[in-house]
Amino acid sequence: MADTRQRLADTVAVVTGSARGIGRSIAERLAGEGARVACLDVSPARLEAAVAEMRTDGLDVHPYVVDVARRSEVHEVFQRIEADFGGPVATLVNNAVWARYQAIDAIDEETLEQMLAVGLKGIIWATQAATAQMKRRGAGTVINLSSAAAVMGLRDSVAYCAVKAAVTGLTRAAALDLGPHGIRVNAIAPGMIATPASLGKFDQPTLQARERNVPIGRFGEAGEIAAVVAFLASADSSYINGALLMADGGLTIAGT
Ligand SMILES: NC(=O)c1ccc[n+]([C@@H]2O[C@H](COP(=O)([O-])OP(=O)(O)OC[C@H]3O[C@@H](n4cnc5c(N)ncnc54)[C@H](O)[C@@H]3O)[C@@H](O)[C@H]2O)c1
Repeated sequence: MADTRQRLADTVAVVTGSARGIGRSIAERLAGEGARVACLDVSPARLEAAVAEMRTDGLDVHPYVVDVARRSEVHEVFQRIEADFGGPVATLVNNAVWARYQAIDAIDEETLEQMLAVGLKGIIWATQAATAQMKRRGAGTVINLSSAAAVMGLRDSVAYCAVKAAVTGLTRAAALDLGPHGIRVNAIAPGMIATPASLGKFDQPTLQARERNVPIGRFGEAGEIAAVVAFLASADSSYINGALLMADGGLTIAGT
């Protein structure tokens, strides 16, 4: 999405899990605001296709295939990004997720380990690598994708709720560690956003019931989350730090 404000002109941004869904929308928005964007994803074919499409819209986006769960791979890719872009990263968006939705009795070891590896360890590895560069720059912003699931219970989603709550905890603690270096760390909690991954989980009657639960009566669009990310990446949010910003149409303040 082109944005005449160009709040991120001449900066380098990294978005994890940006081959599709909300991450792709974030990459488009940050590039539209003038950032040069490194798009990270574990899925090579999907990433190449997404970046090629974004480039046809004139966006300055570049693909990097990486598994964020692997610490050494992540550190290596951030070194490559700094060399390729000729300068340090200014904005990191930790968006990648790997999720399976299971009730407490059904959770198996392999699934839980993969969810923690991508959704929790992955954020820590990318934040370590990106903020090493931001410290040299004396400024930076880290934005973590949490979820409304961090603050409300969802059925059959024990591991997802736990991982997303952990993201809010690590956001606050990292904000304390990194504040003295001029680095702000914030999290966003989207409600139900209309992406193929989220809509595909439910049948039509369930989707309609869920939509009725949202006080403003509709699911969100990926672009509405990308707009919040761009705000948190920009100087317009210069005094927001360690926060969890709800972007859920009021879902989490609704009663029955
Ligand atoms: N869609 C929603 O309704 C919703 C609601 C609340 C929060 N969120 C959060 O927003 C973020 C994006 O959600 P989405 O629905 O667009 O997700 P999605 O599943 O559509 O996309 C996730 C992306 O992450 C990539 N990925 C998976 N494992 C990876 C790994 N190991 N390394 C690098 N990349 C990897 C995938 O290939 C994919 O492109 C997630 O953090 C999610 O928890 C989404």
